[in-house]
Amino acid sequence: MIFTVAIDGPAAAGKGTIARAVADRFGFAHLDTGLLYRAVGAKAGDPVAAARGLTEADLGRGDLRTLAAGQAASRVAVIPEVRAALLDFQRRFARRQGGAVLDGRDIGTVICPEAEVKLYVTASPEVRAHRRWLEVGGDEAQVLAEVIERDKRDARRATAPLRPAADALLLDTTELTIEAAVHKAIAAIEQRIGQGRA
Ligand code: C5P
Repeated sequence: MIFTVAIDGPAAAGKGTIARAVADRFGFAHLDTGLLYRAVGAKAGDPVAAARGLTEADLGRGDLRTLAAGQAASRVAVIPEVRAALLDFQRRFARRQGGAVLDGRDIGTVICPEAEVKLYVTASPEVRAHRRWLEVGGDEAQVLAEVIERDKRDARRATAPLRPAADALLLDTTELTIEAAVHKAIAAIEQRIGQGRA
């Protein structure tokens, strides 16, 4: 079975948690596409060459989850040649046999516009910054400033900017708990699988 779940949205909205829960529930493979950009941003030298030569080992680095790695990722993510170099791998992953869930910024709009289910997960910048601060610590105001800066860069870039696909289901987790958002995501996927069988 080929079945793609595309999950997009801004930083720290809960995409990863929802993606992992969906992958577990349906036995789908999961790709955190942010990790690809983080790995490119963390490599020294020319980012285009880094994207073209990305390996499994690059994705296993221990320092990819930091705020600084997120900023570096969003800086290399504006470069069209970097995005182009990562495209085929993501597309093949999305359409692999057995089902796939990918989370990122442009999955439903660019990587897999034909995805069977598209979700756009968001929340207020304050709520997202608070969640990220609980993970990384430090100064919460600084975390908020970084979240806002990264959102702006991701939404304003010319190539594959952050935006919801026209046919995405919007999940705003400002008021919704992540558990409730997971529940809604699973319900939407079950409904779509049911349609496929009808
Ligand atoms: O999701 P995560 O915070 O790990 O993403 C890091 C950065 O990578 C984002 O701020 C964004 O600039 C970039 N990214 C992207 N397209 C994706 C996933 C991530 O441009 N599909």
